[in-house]
Amino acid sequence: MLTLAIETSCDETACAVIKDGREVLSNIISSQIDVHRKFGGVVPEIASRKHIEAINNIIQEALDEANCTFKDLDLIGVTQGPGLVGALLVGISTAKALAYGLDIPLIGVNHIEGHICANYIEHKDLEPPFTCLVVSGGHTYLLNVKSYVDYELVGRTRDDAAGEAFDKVARALGLPYPGGPHIDRLAKIGDKDSIPFPRVYLEDGSYDFSFSGLKTAVLNYLNQMKQKGEEIIVEDVAASFQQAVLDVLVDKAFRLARETSSKKIVIAGGVAANEGLRNMLESRGEEEGIRIYYPSRILCTDNAAMIGSAAYYHYINGERSDLSLNVEPNLGLN
Ligand code: KG4
Ligand code: ZN
Repeated sequence: MLTLAIETSCDETACAVIKDGREVLSNIISSQIDVHRKFGGVVPEIASRKHIEAINNIIQEALDEANCTFKDLDLIGVTQGPGLVGALLVGISTAKALAYGLDIPLIGVNHIEGHICANYIEHKDLEPPFTCLVVSGGHTYLLNVKSYVDYELVGRTRDDAAGEAFDKVARALGLPYPGGPHIDRLAKIGDKDSIPFPRVYLEDGSYDFSFSGLKTAVLNYLNQMKQKGEEIIVEDVAASFQQAVLDVLVDKAFRLARETSSKKIVIAGGVAANEGLRNMLESRGEEEGIRIYYPSRILCTDNAAMIGSAAYYHYINGERSDLSLNVEPNLGLN
Protein backbone atom coordinates (compact mmCIF):
# COMPACT_ATOMS: atom_id res chain seq x y z
CA MET A 1 0.00 0.00 0.00
CA LEU A 2 1.52 3.34 -1.09
CA THR A 3 0.98 6.52 0.96
CA LEU A 4 1.98 9.96 -0.28
CA ALA A 5 2.59 12.17 2.75
CA ILE A 6 2.96 15.93 3.02
CA GLU A 7 4.47 17.92 5.91
CA THR A 8 4.47 21.76 5.99
CA SER A 9 3.93 22.58 9.68
CA CYS A 10 6.99 24.82 10.13
CA ASP A 11 9.99 25.60 7.94
CA GLU A 12 10.44 22.36 5.98
CA THR A 13 8.44 21.60 2.83
CA ALA A 14 8.48 17.81 2.80
CA CYS A 15 6.91 15.00 0.80
CA ALA A 16 7.45 11.26 1.00
CA VAL A 17 6.17 8.02 -0.48
CA ILE A 18 5.87 5.21 2.09
CA LYS A 19 5.09 1.54 1.47
CA ASP A 20 3.00 -0.28 4.07
CA GLY A 21 3.70 2.31 6.76
CA ARG A 22 7.34 1.41 7.36
CA GLU A 23 9.32 1.38 4.13
CA VAL A 24 10.58 4.70 2.73
CA LEU A 25 10.50 4.84 -1.09
CA SER A 26 11.31 8.57 -1.09
CA ASN A 27 11.70 11.28 1.54
CA ILE A 28 12.24 14.75 0.06
CA ILE A 29 12.87 17.67 2.42
CA SER A 30 13.29 21.24 1.25
CA SER A 31 14.52 23.30 4.19
CA GLN A 32 13.90 27.03 4.50
CA ILE A 33 16.40 27.38 7.35
CA ASP A 34 18.76 29.61 5.36
CA VAL A 35 15.93 32.07 4.66
CA HIS A 36 14.90 32.30 8.32
CA ARG A 37 18.39 32.24 9.82
CA LYS A 38 18.96 35.96 9.33
CA PHE A 39 15.87 36.65 11.48
CA GLY A 40 17.08 34.30 14.25
CA GLY A 41 13.91 32.19 14.02
CA VAL A 42 11.04 31.19 11.73
CA VAL A 43 8.98 34.06 10.23
CA PRO A 44 5.49 32.54 9.71
CA GLU A 45 4.44 34.62 6.68
CA ILE A 46 7.68 33.87 4.85
CA ALA A 47 7.31 30.16 5.71
CA SER A 48 3.85 30.01 4.06
CA ARG A 49 5.08 31.70 0.89
CA LYS A 50 8.09 29.42 0.61
CA HIS A 51 5.87 26.34 1.03
CA ILE A 52 3.65 27.51 -1.85
CA GLU A 53 6.67 28.02 -4.09
CA ALA A 54 8.15 24.62 -3.30
CA ILE A 55 5.30 22.16 -2.78
CA ASN A 56 4.45 21.05 -6.31
CA ASN A 57 8.07 20.40 -7.22
CA ILE A 58 8.71 18.53 -3.98
CA ILE A 59 5.71 16.25 -4.60
CA GLN A 60 6.93 15.50 -8.13
CA GLU A 61 10.43 14.79 -6.81
CA ALA A 62 9.02 12.40 -4.22
CA LEU A 63 7.05 10.51 -6.89
CA ASP A 64 10.04 10.39 -9.26
CA GLU A 65 12.41 9.10 -6.61
CA ALA A 66 9.88 6.45 -5.54
CA ASN A 67 9.57 5.51 -9.20
CA CYS A 68 5.80 5.84 -9.19
CA THR A 69 3.03 8.10 -10.48
CA PHE A 70 -0.12 9.58 -8.92
CA LYS A 71 -2.06 6.56 -10.24
CA ASP A 72 -0.06 4.17 -8.03
CA LEU A 73 -1.03 5.94 -4.79
CA ASP A 74 -3.55 4.44 -2.32
CA LEU A 75 -3.64 7.07 0.43
CA ILE A 76 -2.77 10.73 1.11
CA GLY A 77 -1.47 11.67 4.58
CA VAL A 78 -0.94 15.25 5.69
CA THR A 79 0.07 17.11 8.85
CA GLN A 80 -3.03 18.73 10.35
CA GLY A 81 -1.28 20.34 13.35
CA PRO A 82 0.22 21.50 15.60
CA GLY A 83 2.18 24.12 13.70
CA LEU A 84 1.96 27.49 11.98
CA VAL A 85 -1.53 28.06 10.61
CA GLY A 86 -0.51 29.51 7.23
CA ALA A 87 2.19 26.89 6.72
CA LEU A 88 -0.16 24.01 7.59
CA LEU A 89 -2.81 25.38 5.19
CA VAL A 90 -0.50 24.95 2.21
CA GLY A 91 -0.03 21.24 2.96
CA ILE A 92 -3.69 20.57 3.81
CA SER A 93 -5.05 22.33 0.71
CA THR A 94 -2.64 20.43 -1.52
CA ALA A 95 -3.46 17.10 0.16
CA LYS A 96 -7.21 17.66 -0.15
CA ALA A 97 -6.90 18.56 -3.84
CA LEU A 98 -4.86 15.40 -4.47
CA ALA A 99 -7.20 13.10 -2.54
CA TYR A 100 -10.23 14.57 -4.34
CA GLY A 101 -8.62 14.52 -7.78
CA LEU A 102 -7.28 10.97 -7.41
CA ASP A 103 -10.37 9.76 -5.54
CA ILE A 104 -8.32 8.11 -2.77
CA PRO A 105 -8.65 8.39 1.04
CA LEU A 106 -7.15 11.23 3.06
CA ILE A 107 -5.84 11.14 6.64
CA GLY A 108 -4.97 14.24 8.71
CA VAL A 109 -2.01 13.46 11.00
CA ASN A 110 -0.86 14.91 14.32
CA HIS A 111 2.71 16.14 13.80
CA ILE A 112 3.82 14.93 17.24
CA GLU A 113 2.51 11.45 16.48
CA GLY A 114 4.47 11.61 13.25
CA HIS A 115 7.68 12.17 15.23
CA ILE A 116 6.95 9.05 17.29
CA CYS A 117 6.18 6.99 14.14
CA ALA A 118 9.61 7.89 12.70
CA ASN A 119 10.78 5.11 15.02
CA TYR A 120 8.62 2.51 13.24
CA ILE A 121 10.43 3.36 10.01
CA GLU A 122 13.84 3.12 11.65
CA HIS A 123 13.22 0.01 13.77
CA LYS A 124 11.27 -2.61 11.83
CA ASP A 125 10.79 -4.72 14.99
CA LEU A 126 9.45 -1.93 17.22
CA GLU A 127 5.86 -2.41 18.38
CA PRO A 128 3.81 -0.65 21.07
CA PRO A 129 3.44 -0.53 24.05
CA PHE A 130 6.45 1.58 25.06
CA THR A 131 7.51 4.64 27.08
CA CYS A 132 8.06 7.65 24.83
CA LEU A 133 9.81 10.97 25.26
CA VAL A 134 9.00 13.54 22.54
CA VAL A 135 11.46 16.43 22.52
CA SER A 136 11.08 18.88 19.64
CA GLY A 137 11.37 22.60 18.99
CA GLY A 138 7.77 23.20 20.04
CA HIS A 139 6.89 20.30 22.36
CA THR A 140 8.11 18.17 25.25
CA TYR A 141 5.89 15.22 26.08
CA LEU A 142 6.25 12.08 28.16
CA LEU A 143 3.82 9.39 27.03
CA ASN A 144 2.70 5.82 27.37
CA VAL A 145 2.24 4.69 23.78
CA LYS A 146 -0.39 1.96 24.17
CA SER A 147 -0.99 1.06 20.53
CA TYR A 148 -0.26 2.47 17.07
CA VAL A 149 -3.08 4.99 17.55
CA ASP A 150 -3.53 5.26 21.33
CA TYR A 151 -1.41 7.63 23.42
CA GLU A 152 -1.60 8.38 27.12
CA LEU A 153 -0.09 11.75 27.91
CA VAL A 154 1.70 11.62 31.28
CA GLY A 155 3.81 14.77 31.33
CA ARG A 156 4.50 17.90 29.31
CA THR A 157 6.42 21.14 29.58
CA ARG A 158 4.78 23.92 31.53
CA ASP A 159 6.71 26.63 29.66
CA ASP A 160 9.51 26.30 27.08
CA ALA A 161 9.95 23.14 25.01
CA ALA A 162 13.33 21.41 25.29
CA GLY A 163 14.35 22.40 21.75
CA GLU A 164 13.17 25.95 22.35
CA ALA A 165 15.45 26.16 25.41
CA PHE A 166 18.38 24.89 23.32
CA ASP A 167 17.63 27.50 20.63
CA LYS A 168 17.25 30.40 23.09
CA VAL A 169 20.43 29.59 25.01
CA ALA A 170 22.29 29.15 21.71
CA ARG A 171 21.10 32.55 20.59
CA ALA A 172 22.37 34.14 23.83
CA LEU A 173 25.73 32.47 23.15
CA GLY A 174 25.81 34.02 19.66
CA LEU A 175 25.32 30.69 17.86
CA PRO A 176 23.29 30.43 14.62
CA TYR A 177 19.65 29.25 14.38
CA PRO A 178 18.67 26.51 15.03
CA GLY A 179 21.02 26.31 17.97
CA GLY A 180 20.40 22.73 19.20
CA PRO A 181 22.98 21.07 16.95
CA HIS A 182 25.59 23.74 17.85
CA ILE A 183 25.10 23.25 21.60
CA ASP A 184 25.36 19.49 21.02
CA ARG A 185 28.67 19.94 19.15
CA LEU A 186 30.19 22.35 21.73
CA ALA A 187 28.98 20.28 24.69
CA LYS A 188 31.26 17.46 23.55
CA ILE A 189 34.35 19.58 24.21
CA GLY A 190 33.10 21.55 27.23
CA ASP A 191 33.09 20.58 30.91
CA LYS A 192 29.55 19.64 31.93
CA ASP A 193 30.33 20.02 35.63
CA SER A 194 31.84 23.52 35.38
CA ILE A 195 28.67 25.58 36.03
CA PRO A 196 25.97 24.33 38.46
CA PHE A 197 22.79 25.23 36.52
CA PRO A 198 19.50 24.21 38.21
CA ARG A 199 17.70 20.91 37.54
CA VAL A 200 13.98 21.60 37.73
CA TYR A 201 12.02 18.50 38.80
CA LEU A 202 8.80 20.29 39.96
CA GLU A 203 6.58 18.64 42.61
CA ASP A 204 7.34 15.16 43.92
CA GLY A 205 6.17 12.55 41.43
CA SER A 206 5.45 15.05 38.66
CA TYR A 207 6.22 14.02 35.09
CA ASP A 208 5.94 17.61 33.83
CA PHE A 209 8.92 19.69 32.75
CA SER A 210 9.95 23.34 33.05
CA PHE A 211 12.92 24.81 31.20
CA SER A 212 12.37 28.57 31.39
CA GLY A 213 14.04 28.88 34.82
CA LEU A 214 17.12 27.10 33.49
CA LYS A 215 17.18 29.38 30.44
CA THR A 216 17.00 32.43 32.76
CA ALA A 217 19.80 31.00 34.92
CA VAL A 218 22.02 30.73 31.84
CA LEU A 219 21.16 34.31 30.75
CA ASN A 220 21.89 35.60 34.28
CA TYR A 221 25.20 33.73 34.36
CA LEU A 222 26.22 35.28 31.00
CA ASN A 223 25.25 38.80 32.19
CA GLN A 224 27.15 38.43 35.47
CA MET A 225 30.28 37.20 33.70
CA LYS A 226 30.11 40.12 31.26
CA GLN A 227 29.62 42.63 34.11
CA LYS A 228 32.61 41.21 35.95
CA GLY A 229 34.62 41.32 32.72
CA GLU A 230 35.35 37.60 33.01
CA GLU A 231 35.86 35.31 30.04
CA ILE A 232 32.87 33.19 29.02
CA ILE A 233 33.87 29.70 27.96
CA VAL A 234 31.12 28.93 25.47
CA GLU A 235 31.86 25.19 25.40
CA ASP A 236 31.51 24.95 29.19
CA VAL A 237 28.22 26.89 29.20
CA ALA A 238 26.89 24.64 26.40
CA ALA A 239 27.96 21.45 28.19
CA SER A 240 26.64 22.52 31.62
CA PHE A 241 23.32 23.75 30.19
CA GLN A 242 22.83 20.60 28.09
CA GLN A 243 23.56 18.35 31.06
CA ALA A 244 20.97 20.19 33.18
CA VAL A 245 18.33 19.53 30.49
CA LEU A 246 19.34 15.91 29.93
CA ASP A 247 19.45 14.96 33.63
CA VAL A 248 15.77 15.83 34.03
CA LEU A 249 14.63 14.34 30.71
CA VAL A 250 16.44 11.06 31.31
CA ASP A 251 15.42 10.73 34.99
CA LYS A 252 11.74 11.23 34.25
CA ALA A 253 11.73 8.90 31.24
CA PHE A 254 13.32 6.09 33.29
CA ARG A 255 11.00 6.72 36.24
CA LEU A 256 7.97 6.33 33.97
CA ALA A 257 9.43 3.20 32.36
CA ARG A 258 9.99 1.68 35.81
CA GLU A 259 6.54 2.64 37.03
CA THR A 260 4.86 1.04 34.00
CA SER A 261 7.28 -1.93 33.87
CA SER A 262 8.20 -0.92 30.35
CA LYS A 263 11.37 -2.37 28.85
CA LYS A 264 11.45 0.08 25.92
CA ILE A 265 12.11 3.83 25.87
CA VAL A 266 11.58 5.54 22.53
CA ILE A 267 12.70 9.11 21.87
CA ALA A 268 11.40 11.33 19.09
CA GLY A 269 11.56 14.91 17.75
CA GLY A 270 14.45 17.18 16.76
CA VAL A 271 16.23 17.00 20.15
CA ALA A 272 16.31 13.18 19.82
CA ALA A 273 19.20 13.89 17.43
CA ASN A 274 21.24 15.09 20.45
CA GLU A 275 24.23 12.85 20.94
CA GLY A 276 24.51 13.57 24.66
CA LEU A 277 20.87 12.49 25.15
CA ARG A 278 21.34 9.30 23.13
CA ASN A 279 24.51 8.34 25.00
CA MET A 280 23.07 9.03 28.42
CA LEU A 281 19.90 7.03 27.71
CA GLU A 282 21.86 4.13 26.30
CA SER A 283 24.30 3.81 29.19
CA ARG A 284 21.48 4.03 31.73
CA GLY A 285 19.41 1.64 29.58
CA GLU A 286 22.21 -0.92 29.76
CA GLU A 287 22.34 -0.64 33.57
CA GLU A 288 18.56 -0.97 33.95
CA GLY A 289 17.87 -3.54 31.21
CA ILE A 290 15.81 -1.15 29.10
CA ARG A 291 16.24 -0.93 25.33
CA ILE A 292 16.52 2.56 23.82
CA TYR A 293 15.14 3.44 20.38
CA TYR A 294 15.70 6.62 18.37
CA PRO A 295 15.43 7.49 14.69
CA SER A 296 18.39 8.32 12.46
CA ARG A 297 19.10 12.05 12.33
CA ILE A 298 17.19 12.73 9.11
CA LEU A 299 14.06 11.14 10.61
CA CYS A 300 14.41 13.04 13.95
CA THR A 301 13.78 16.50 12.54
CA ASP A 302 10.73 17.40 10.46
CA ASN A 303 10.07 15.13 7.48
CA ALA A 304 7.08 13.63 5.65
CA ALA A 305 8.07 9.95 5.91
CA MET A 306 7.02 9.98 9.58
CA ILE A 307 3.67 11.53 8.60
CA GLY A 308 3.15 8.74 6.04
CA SER A 309 3.76 6.11 8.71
CA ALA A 310 1.26 7.70 11.13
CA ALA A 311 -1.33 8.09 8.34
CA TYR A 312 -0.97 4.40 7.44
CA TYR A 313 -1.66 3.20 11.01
CA HIS A 314 -4.75 5.40 11.32
CA TYR A 315 -5.95 4.09 7.94
CA ILE A 316 -5.48 0.50 9.11
CA ASN A 317 -7.48 1.45 12.21
CA GLY A 318 -10.42 2.32 9.93
CA GLU A 319 -10.18 6.09 10.24
CA ARG A 320 -10.73 8.52 7.34
CA SER A 321 -10.61 12.32 7.09
CA ASP A 322 -13.00 14.04 4.70
CA LEU A 323 -12.66 17.18 2.63
CA SER A 324 -13.80 19.34 5.56
CA LEU A 325 -10.40 18.56 7.19
CA ASN A 326 -8.98 21.79 8.57
CA VAL A 327 -5.71 22.88 10.16
CA GLU A 328 -5.40 22.63 13.96
CA PRO A 329 -2.47 24.91 14.91
CA ASN A 330 -2.76 23.94 18.60
CA LEU A 331 -3.58 20.26 18.17
CA GLY A 332 -2.57 18.25 21.25
CA LEU A 333 -2.18 14.51 21.72
CA ASN A 334 -5.49 12.86 22.77
O1 KG4 B 1 11.14 18.29 15.69
P1 KG4 B 1 11.75 19.47 15.07
O2 KG4 B 1 12.44 19.34 13.74
O3 KG4 B 1 10.71 20.61 14.89
C1 KG4 B 1 9.57 20.74 15.67
O4 KG4 B 1 8.59 20.02 15.42
O5 KG4 B 1 9.65 21.56 16.61
O6 KG4 B 1 12.75 20.03 16.16
C2 KG4 B 1 13.56 21.15 15.94
C3 KG4 B 1 14.32 21.39 17.23
C4 KG4 B 1 15.08 22.69 17.26
O7 KG4 B 1 14.81 23.33 18.47
C5 KG4 B 1 16.54 22.25 17.18
O8 KG4 B 1 17.43 23.14 17.81
C6 KG4 B 1 16.49 20.92 17.89
O9 KG4 B 1 15.28 20.34 17.44
N1 KG4 B 1 17.63 20.07 17.56
C7 KG4 B 1 18.55 19.69 18.48
C8 KG4 B 1 19.51 18.91 17.79
N2 KG4 B 1 19.12 18.84 16.48
C9 KG4 B 1 17.96 19.55 16.36
N3 KG4 B 1 18.64 19.94 19.80
C10 KG4 B 1 19.69 19.42 20.46
N4 KG4 B 1 20.67 18.68 19.87
C11 KG4 B 1 20.61 18.39 18.54
N5 KG4 B 1 21.57 17.66 17.98
ZN1 ZN C 1 8.59 18.55 14.41
